Amino acid sequence: MHFHHRHPASEAQVTSSTEDNGGQGPDYTTSMRTDRCGDLRSDDVGRQVTLCGWVARRREHGEHLAFVDLRDRSGIIQVVVDGAADLRSEYVLQVTGQVRERPADTANDALSTGAIEVDASEVTILSASEPPPFPLDERTDVDEVLRLRHRYVDLRRPRLQKNLEVRATVNSAVRTAMEEQGFIEVETPMLVASTPEGARDFVVPSRKEPGSFYALPQSPQIFKQLCMIGGVDRYYQIARCLRDEDLRADRQFEFMQLDAEASFVSQDDVLTFITHTVASAAEAVTGERPADFPRMSWHEARERYGSDKPDIRFGMELVELTPVFADTDFRAFQAPCVKGIRVPGGADLSRNRLDDLTETCKGWGAKGLVWMKVEADGLNSPVAKFLTGDEQAALRTTLEAEEGDLLLLVADEHHTTCRILGLLRLELGRPPVTEGGLHFLWVVDFPLFEGLDEAGNPMPAHHPFTMPHEDDLETLEAGDLLSVRSQAYDLVLNGWELGSGSVRIHRREIQQKIFSILGIGADEAQERFGFLLDAFRYGAPPHAGFAFGMDRLIAILAGEENIREVIAYPKTQSGADPLTSAPTPIDDRHLEELGLRVLPRSE
Ligand code: AMO
Ligand code: AMP
Repeated sequence: MHFHHRHPASEAQVTSSTEDNGGQGPDYTTSMRTDRCGDLRSDDVGRQVTLCGWVARRREHGEHLAFVDLRDRSGIIQVVVDGAADLRSEYVLQVTGQVRERPADTANDALSTGAIEVDASEVTILSASEPPPFPLDERTDVDEVLRLRHRYVDLRRPRLQKNLEVRATVNSAVRTAMEEQGFIEVETPMLVASTPEGARDFVVPSRKEPGSFYALPQSPQIFKQLCMIGGVDRYYQIARCLRDEDLRADRQFEFMQLDAEASFVSQDDVLTFITHTVASAAEAVTGERPADFPRMSWHEARERYGSDKPDIRFGMELVELTPVFADTDFRAFQAPCVKGIRVPGGADLSRNRLDDLTETCKGWGAKGLVWMKVEADGLNSPVAKFLTGDEQAALRTTLEAEEGDLLLLVADEHHTTCRILGLLRLELGRPPVTEGGLHFLWVVDFPLFEGLDEAGNPMPAHHPFTMPHEDDLETLEAGDLLSVRSQAYDLVLNGWELGSGSVRIHRREIQQKIFSILGIGADEAQERFGFLLDAFRYGAPPHAGFAFGMDRLIAILAGEENIREVIAYPKTQSGADPLTSAPTPIDDRHLEELGLRVLPRSE
């Protein structure tokens, strides 16, 4: 048994495994190793191998024997080291030895290498390690900031190694699928003028023009449309986008989109392209091609699920009850819209939990929440006494209530009733986003505007470049803005908005009209988007496109509920990077060069 320190074995000493590679996949043999740890199998018994990796675990056996689990990207193998050596967790080793069968009673079925081990004849410490800042097993819940501060250690965990592989697989499958369909990858700039996608811009000060700023792109939206005017015909990009918005499980400041645009296409064409690409990515990871994605109108999604991104993995759909209470004496239900949901078996919810739910609904803007437990002798509810026997009977029939169910009812303006019950449905029934397979859904026929802002201007439901529905152009002229449909569509996966797109406006006068409806005056429109309006003068083809969140798709395919787990170097919930300490102040000289002064913080 030989121990070395930092003098790795050279090529000459080891037998290469390339001959049994059989041309399958990459050859991982290098001048420092013959194999990867996790690739060894019973077939390799008897071979002399050299491996490199990290000490995942070490157990002593008697005075001189140690079992070392050696880890690299491919997995873990047990190495038996005979002789005293200081091999601690996360040391980087090069090990030469013979592959042998493990004694039958010590085989580990949980490991793909569990039937074998390497009997080490030489061990070289390539690099020592201080004790790792946290245990690298999958059982310990480690503080997020600590994980991110030492992300290079965190990344060694099999879970993150797998996630990065899923990510690479999806990137590659998406590229292949887009290229199969004739899309070419075009890169668009990072230092741009503002692109309106509804979030705040990150800005970069200009040194050459103090007081002026570049925006970092919220999306390549305008550039991809200009590509269409430029004759690119089918564009795609795996594009980095930046948005200064509050972070959540499915949101980061920086994220990646599969961004696409095509000329001379309809909505159906875009849906076909994107379905092919997303299905190919899912198939590349899971081995199974998802069935064709169903479609639902935005209107139906709101009626049945109270959401524009319905989670169709479970029922508890919203049921229309307005007609049941058309003549009711119960004040709370004398409202434009009454709807309810049925929670199967929910009658055992405690009074406390029901009170909490009521408060939660009020927090969302509801006036109240009516609950009813369906019991053998009738409806058990504080408001049952205000409802007639006919109302109670009709209510039970309409909701298809059974004994043991809980019924939850809300009365309000139509959109409020739908929204509150939609949220309540998710609160009570929603499985983790990774459970129950992949349920894709196209939501089509979005409205053009989603409501009015404080100044009374309509807000675009997608973005201001979206073409109104052809049949609704007259309604637009007539000024009935909120009922105008658009040619916008979303792709939903397990209740997450995966992506959005639309048929675009390609005519200058329609674009100007939309800007003016949005309260962007002619001068402002010319100043902010003049280049786009000008481009429309020079032969703009009809075009349409889409973008979906790569991080979201990858997270769900990797079985992760937070996109941070599939991003190599994400930010924390508060937007910081504990690894590099970004964001950091810059020195005065640098500020001066940029023509900037920092105001004292107002507390
Ligand atoms: P949209 O703004 O809907 O559309 O963005 C498309 C998709 O990008 C993902 N996404 C995010 N992912 C992680 N973190 C974020 N902060 C974040 N914000 C958005 C979502 C979302 O569905 N230019 C249009 C597309 C088009 O019309 O072609 C656009 O950007 O998955
Ligand atoms: P109130 O008459 O306001 O005391 O309300 C009686 C019950 O009806 C309470 O349980 C309220 O939570 C509920 N409630 C009041 N307004 C509404 C509403 N608009 N929709 C659903 N439930 C309501």
